[in-house]
Amino acid sequence: MIQTIQTTPYADQKMGTAGLRKKSKVVMQKYYIENFVQSIFDVIGNLKGKTYVLGGDGRFYNDIAIQKIIKMAAANGVSKLVIGQNGFLSTPASSNIILKNKLDGGFVLSASHNPGGENGDFGIKYANQSGGQCPSSTSEEIYKHTLNIKEFKICDAPDIDLSKLGHQELCGMEIEIIDPVIDYVKMMEDIFDFNAIKQLFAKGFTMRFDAMNAVTGPYAQRIFEDILGANKGSVVNAIPLPDFGGLHPDPNLLYAKELINLMFSDQSPDFGAANDGDGDRNMILGHNFFVTPSDSLAILTDNYKLIPAYKNGIFGVAKSAATSTAVGRVAKAHNIGYYEVPTGWKYFVNLMDSNRITFCGEESFGTGSSHIREKDGIWAVLFWLNIIAATGKSVEQITREHWQKYGRSYYMRFDFEGISTDVADKLMADLEAKLPSLNGKSFENYHISNAAPFIYNDPVDHSSTKNGLIIKFADGSRIVYRLSGTGSSGATLRVYLEKYDTKNLNGDPLKMLENILEIALNIAEVQTRTGKQHADVIT
Ligand code: G1P
Ligand code: ZN
Repeated sequence: MIQTIQTTPYADQKMGTAGLRKKSKVVMQKYYIENFVQSIFDVIGNLKGKTYVLGGDGRFYNDIAIQKIIKMAAANGVSKLVIGQNGFLSTPASSNIILKNKLDGGFVLSASHNPGGENGDFGIKYANQSGGQCPSSTSEEIYKHTLNIKEFKICDAPDIDLSKLGHQELCGMEIEIIDPVIDYVKMMEDIFDFNAIKQLFAKGFTMRFDAMNAVTGPYAQRIFEDILGANKGSVVNAIPLPDFGGLHPDPNLLYAKELINLMFSDQSPDFGAANDGDGDRNMILGHNFFVTPSDSLAILTDNYKLIPAYKNGIFGVAKSAATSTAVGRVAKAHNIGYYEVPTGWKYFVNLMDSNRITFCGEESFGTGSSHIREKDGIWAVLFWLNIIAATGKSVEQITREHWQKYGRSYYMRFDFEGISTDVADKLMADLEAKLPSLNGKSFENYHISNAAPFIYNDPVDHSSTKNGLIIKFADGSRIVYRLSGTGSSGATLRVYLEKYDTKNLNGDPLKMLENILEIALNIAEVQTRTGKQHADVIT
């Protein structure tokens, strides 16, 4: 039943910030998935005795890709696949299964927060035995392999019934179909004070969780409504749909509009949250109040003692370089380790594995801890609920008190999308060349103290990564420029701005950052080079 099929390479199977991410139509080309997956198997080698997790966020093509991967795994000699029922598994749930069961790795079929459907995006993330995405050195090796691939192996068999829980067999490979939710719920119960959160809801606390028609609906309903007692209907858009019901499943101020409108209205519940397509991103809201992900990371870290799993102490904390420096001040106050890494969760993995950090986060609505090796949307929501239950304070109160204690990092990100790759690459290259001449220069009241590329030297594997350009000002303000690594076409320039203030804590972020924005756009000649007067997306 095992067939070896001839194929020809595709030139574009390079993984980005988080796995391979492409337009669905690209992935639907003949043998596209097969080439990529075979390359992974070839690079891993020696698959006998190995067990992998497999699942996805249920987006368009999930059902087709998953059957191909199952049959290829069997033909390549993988011993066992653990698959989420109906092909569903959130990214954090998948990471948990790998870690807890000491498996060899896994595949998550998702393009995360990118829209789905035939005209949307599709993707594959490959995790190794750490439960996190493979390091850049491995993805580079896989990419090289895709450029020379000549054949792939596949088991010629009917599709597997993924609705049936339990064990099956295919071409000598064992398949176990599991409930995607059970293990994840158990893990959350072991971390947080579920009784305290139950009492909070019993006292009438209200929440709205928007699953954005993506994978977290079933997890959220089980946890928030069934177990913790939030009102029925607190979880909305709870059924995962192949096209996410037309939603762009990115939990931010722009795309989670329904939730934002509710939270900024008189009908607002006490607490609001949303997750992305594959359940690793989160957005946190209070009544009339939005918490930036950078602040959220700082606040969670500052309150670690309120959480049963962390109360006896945490290792350090890490953030991506583009994320605001708010958590750095918390790390200093608590005297714990503090690391800045390139953008992408994979850079946190070594720090977690070596017990250097417990918490980590990115400005792009990602927060998590070493309970797994991916960011975790529901974990962040439960952490906030646990803090609220323990303190009796609202989201706004918790955040404002945090600013009073530490000062406030006004922070925003401006994205210029759909730029031609050449223009974007040239902009970055010219800007990098210009940085040394900017050191010591002043723009109005802003004095540049340091302008340089961000270079990360991993303390564990000693790899060195360059990611983005940073301009630091004497007053602690910062500009970070980088190109997105998750797009499926063209280039996106991200400009991240930060201004630190200890006195004016109630400013409007856009106003507070107005001058720095102008400086940032001028220095990089963004408008003249891209032809865009304004950012396409501001978060
Ligand atoms: C984006 C985010 C980054 C995140 C990644 C995957 O990558 O900026 O923080 O890790 O998505 O969710 P980018 O498109 O900026 O490369
Ligand atoms: Zn995601």
